[in-house]
Amino acid sequence: MTAIIYWSGTGNTEMMAKAIEFGLIEAGEEVVLHSVGEVSDDIVEKYDKFAFGCPSMGDEILEEDEFEPFFISIESQLEGKKVALFGSYDWGDGEWMRDWSERTKAAGAQLLDGGLIQNLEPDEEECKAYGSKLANF
Ligand SMILES: Cc1cc2nc3c(=O)[nH]c(=O)nc-3n(C[C@H](O)[C@H](O)[C@H](O)COP(=O)(O)O)c2cc1C
Repeated sequence: MTAIIYWSGTGNTEMMAKAIEFGLIEAGEEVVLHSVGEVSDDIVEKYDKFAFGCPSMGDEILEEDEFEPFFISIESQLEGKKVALFGSYDWGDGEWMRDWSERTKAAGAQLLDGGLIQNLEPDEEECKAYGSKLANF
Protein backbone atom coordinates (compact mmCIF):
# COMPACT_ATOMS: atom_id res chain seq x y z
CA MET A 1 0.00 0.00 0.00
CA THR A 2 1.39 3.36 -1.05
CA ALA A 3 0.33 6.81 0.14
CA ILE A 4 0.65 9.74 -2.27
CA ILE A 5 0.65 13.14 -0.54
CA TYR A 6 1.05 16.32 -2.53
CA TRP A 7 0.65 20.08 -2.67
CA SER A 8 -0.22 21.81 -5.95
CA GLY A 9 -1.08 25.44 -6.63
CA THR A 10 -2.00 25.43 -10.32
CA GLY A 11 -2.57 21.72 -10.88
CA ASN A 12 0.65 20.49 -12.52
CA THR A 13 1.91 18.55 -9.51
CA GLU A 14 -1.63 17.29 -8.97
CA MET A 15 -1.59 15.89 -12.52
CA MET A 16 1.70 14.19 -11.70
CA ALA A 17 0.16 12.72 -8.53
CA LYS A 18 -2.77 11.27 -10.48
CA ALA A 19 -0.58 9.81 -13.22
CA ILE A 20 1.76 8.27 -10.62
CA GLU A 21 -1.33 6.83 -8.90
CA PHE A 22 -2.41 5.35 -12.24
CA GLY A 23 1.03 3.77 -12.75
CA LEU A 24 0.98 2.27 -9.26
CA ILE A 25 -2.52 0.84 -9.70
CA GLU A 26 -1.65 -0.55 -13.13
CA ALA A 27 1.29 -2.33 -11.53
CA GLY A 28 -1.05 -3.90 -8.96
CA GLU A 29 -0.36 -1.63 -5.98
CA GLU A 30 -3.06 -0.27 -3.66
CA VAL A 31 -2.92 3.50 -3.29
CA VAL A 32 -4.32 6.29 -1.17
CA LEU A 33 -3.99 9.81 -2.56
CA HIS A 34 -4.34 12.98 -0.48
CA SER A 35 -3.51 16.63 -0.80
CA VAL A 36 -1.28 17.66 2.09
CA GLY A 37 -4.07 19.67 3.73
CA GLU A 38 -6.06 16.48 4.26
CA VAL A 39 -3.50 14.56 6.31
CA SER A 40 -1.85 14.76 9.71
CA ASP A 41 1.68 13.76 10.64
CA ASP A 42 0.60 10.33 11.98
CA ILE A 43 0.06 9.20 8.35
CA VAL A 44 3.69 8.09 8.20
CA GLU A 45 3.11 5.37 10.81
CA LYS A 46 0.42 3.82 8.63
CA TYR A 47 2.40 3.10 5.43
CA ASP A 48 5.84 1.91 4.39
CA LYS A 49 5.89 3.45 0.94
CA PHE A 50 5.23 7.08 0.01
CA ALA A 51 5.21 9.43 -2.93
CA PHE A 52 5.51 13.06 -1.83
CA GLY A 53 4.83 15.80 -4.38
CA CYS A 54 5.53 19.53 -4.24
CA PRO A 55 6.51 22.01 -6.98
CA SER A 56 9.49 24.32 -6.84
CA MET A 57 8.30 27.44 -5.04
CA GLY A 58 9.72 30.59 -3.43
CA ASP A 59 13.27 30.54 -4.68
CA GLU A 60 13.95 26.82 -5.21
CA ILE A 61 12.22 25.68 -2.03
CA LEU A 62 9.17 23.65 -1.01
CA GLU A 63 5.84 25.45 -0.65
CA GLU A 64 6.12 27.19 2.71
CA ASP A 65 2.62 27.42 4.21
CA GLU A 66 1.45 23.81 4.07
CA PHE A 67 3.97 21.44 2.54
CA GLU A 68 7.18 22.51 4.30
CA PRO A 69 5.58 22.41 7.80
CA PHE A 70 4.11 18.97 6.98
CA PHE A 71 7.45 17.66 5.76
CA ILE A 72 9.24 18.99 8.85
CA SER A 73 6.69 17.19 11.02
CA ILE A 74 7.24 13.80 9.36
CA GLU A 75 10.94 13.96 8.47
CA SER A 76 12.12 12.25 11.64
CA GLN A 77 9.81 9.29 10.93
CA LEU A 78 11.14 8.51 7.44
CA GLU A 79 13.93 6.16 8.54
CA GLY A 80 13.69 2.95 6.52
CA LYS A 81 10.64 4.06 4.49
CA LYS A 82 10.57 3.77 0.70
CA VAL A 83 10.04 7.22 -0.73
CA ALA A 84 9.45 8.73 -4.16
CA LEU A 85 9.54 12.52 -4.60
CA PHE A 86 7.98 14.44 -7.46
CA GLY A 87 7.07 17.93 -8.54
CA SER A 88 6.68 20.43 -11.31
CA TYR A 89 8.94 23.44 -11.90
CA ASP A 90 9.34 26.22 -14.45
CA TRP A 91 12.46 28.35 -14.89
CA GLY A 92 14.87 26.69 -12.47
CA ASP A 93 17.20 23.72 -12.96
CA GLY A 94 15.69 21.39 -10.36
CA GLU A 95 17.74 22.67 -7.43
CA TRP A 96 14.74 22.32 -5.08
CA MET A 97 14.50 18.61 -5.90
CA ARG A 98 18.23 18.02 -5.41
CA ASP A 99 18.01 19.65 -1.98
CA TRP A 100 14.80 17.77 -1.12
CA SER A 101 16.35 14.45 -2.21
CA GLU A 102 19.43 15.01 -0.04
CA ARG A 103 17.23 15.91 2.89
CA THR A 104 15.10 12.78 2.41
CA LYS A 105 18.16 10.52 2.21
CA ALA A 106 19.64 12.22 5.27
CA ALA A 107 16.43 11.29 7.13
CA GLY A 108 17.23 7.64 6.43
CA ALA A 109 14.62 6.99 3.73
CA GLN A 110 15.28 4.83 0.68
CA LEU A 111 14.77 7.23 -2.21
CA LEU A 112 13.56 6.12 -5.65
CA ASP A 113 16.03 7.57 -8.18
CA GLY A 114 16.60 11.25 -7.53
CA GLY A 115 12.87 12.00 -7.57
CA LEU A 116 10.89 12.95 -10.69
CA ILE A 117 10.75 16.52 -11.95
CA GLN A 118 8.60 17.77 -14.81
CA ASN A 119 8.69 21.15 -16.51
CA LEU A 120 5.26 22.79 -16.06
CA GLU A 121 2.52 20.48 -17.41
CA PRO A 122 3.76 16.93 -16.94
CA ASP A 123 4.34 14.14 -19.41
CA GLU A 124 1.79 11.67 -18.04
CA GLU A 125 3.57 8.63 -19.48
CA GLU A 126 6.79 9.50 -17.63
CA CYS A 127 4.80 9.94 -14.43
CA LYS A 128 2.98 6.62 -14.90
CA ALA A 129 6.33 4.90 -15.49
CA TYR A 130 7.66 6.40 -12.24
CA GLY A 131 4.53 5.05 -10.50
CA SER A 132 5.12 1.54 -11.85
CA LYS A 133 8.74 1.72 -10.77
CA LEU A 134 7.62 2.74 -7.28
CA ALA A 135 5.24 -0.23 -7.16
CA ASN A 136 8.21 -2.55 -7.67
CA PHE A 137 10.63 -0.59 -5.42
C1 LIG B 1 5.42 31.74 -5.97
C2 LIG B 1 6.07 30.86 -7.01
C3 LIG B 1 7.43 30.58 -6.91
C4 LIG B 1 8.06 29.75 -7.86
N1 LIG B 1 9.41 29.50 -7.76
C5 LIG B 1 10.00 28.70 -8.68
C6 LIG B 1 11.40 28.42 -8.61
O1 LIG B 1 12.11 28.88 -7.70
N2 LIG B 1 11.94 27.63 -9.56
C7 LIG B 1 11.20 27.08 -10.58
O2 LIG B 1 11.75 26.35 -11.41
N3 LIG B 1 9.88 27.33 -10.68
C8 LIG B 1 9.26 28.11 -9.76
N4 LIG B 1 7.92 28.37 -9.85
C9 LIG B 1 7.14 27.76 -10.93
C10 LIG B 1 6.35 26.55 -10.46
O3 LIG B 1 7.19 25.56 -9.89
C11 LIG B 1 5.60 25.96 -11.66
O4 LIG B 1 4.66 26.90 -12.12
C12 LIG B 1 4.90 24.65 -11.33
O5 LIG B 1 4.36 24.10 -12.53
C13 LIG B 1 3.76 24.84 -10.33
O6 LIG B 1 3.25 23.57 -10.01
P1 LIG B 1 1.73 23.39 -9.56
O7 LIG B 1 0.87 23.61 -10.79
O8 LIG B 1 1.64 22.02 -9.05
O9 LIG B 1 1.46 24.42 -8.52
C14 LIG B 1 7.29 29.19 -8.93
C15 LIG B 1 5.92 29.47 -9.00
C16 LIG B 1 5.30 30.29 -8.06
C17 LIG B 1 3.83 30.57 -8.17
